[in-house]
Amino acid sequence: MTYECILTAVQGEGERKTGLITLNRPKQLNALNDQLMDELGQALLAFDADDSIGCIVLTGSERAFAAGADIPTMAPHNFMSAFKSGLISKNWETILQVRKPVIAAVAGFALGGGCELAMMCDFIIAADTAKFGQPEIKLGIIPGAGGTQRLPRAVGKSKAMDMLLTARMMDAAEAERGGLVSRVVAADKLLEEALAAADQINGFSAPSVALIKELVNLAYQGPLIDGVNVERRYFHALFGTDDQREGMDAFINKRKPAFKHR
Ligand code: HXC
Repeated sequence: MTYECILTAVQGEGERKTGLITLNRPKQLNALNDQLMDELGQALLAFDADDSIGCIVLTGSERAFAAGADIPTMAPHNFMSAFKSGLISKNWETILQVRKPVIAAVAGFALGGGCELAMMCDFIIAADTAKFGQPEIKLGIIPGAGGTQRLPRAVGKSKAMDMLLTARMMDAAEAERGGLVSRVVAADKLLEEALAAADQINGFSAPSVALIKELVNLAYQGPLIDGVNVERRYFHALFGTDDQREGMDAFINKRKPAFKHR
């Protein structure tokens, strides 16, 4: 598959590898247009369907993860054209169908739709150069890909209101303090760190990984007791897998587990 707005590669030495997707519209600071979002969706689904891939890392450039939705292509819309064409709805949320972990590795600007895309990933590792923001209010609009919903869940109401209403950016240190990102690393170590995290996940049992992702998303999106009940059922179900026998036997016999992902 050849893409024009993204680059894809397979990384890692282990049995299961990492699918790396790099947003690649450098002249526009990776502004997210329809072609890029279509390609991103295709690449995500292809890696998700590939049994040799355990994790996906999504990154941008040193200067920008993504500076938002592409403003010139969005500008001519009116209500009816936005509604009828399914603006955003038609191609921005493919990432939510992916069952494998998607790690965002963010350097530079992650603004508007760029911040929203990073928040749709499972966790964010930030370079110390990262800057997050939802500046849509400056354009006379509001976020349209979950920014008003995911940002308060990530950083709390006060910081979210502040960022959304004033359009100010949050640097990497503040983003880590607020819980928006899981770790901050030196910019020149960003990809290395994200790929190492992916590699670590790739070494674990794939069903455990997929279920943890599903359950954390349930905790994030739904009522507590429903999440705990589903967690209990899946916890019981994993005692029917080879990997549970292998993992526990390996611990008891002080050896490294050899997971078969079943
Ligand atoms: C299209 C963009 C762009 C964008 C930057 N560029 N952001 N093109 N859409 N969102 C282009 C610029 O026009 C410019 O092109 C080139 O990238 C470099 O940008 P500069 O502004 O020259 O760089 P700099 O001075 O370093 O400023 C960087 C910046 C600024 C702070 C990120 O570009 C900026 O404020 N961009 C807009 C950010 C924004 O409002 N994002 C939210 C978009 S709305 P030329 O050709 O001039 O060199 C949104 C809605 C989401 O995301 C709704 C649902 C998804």
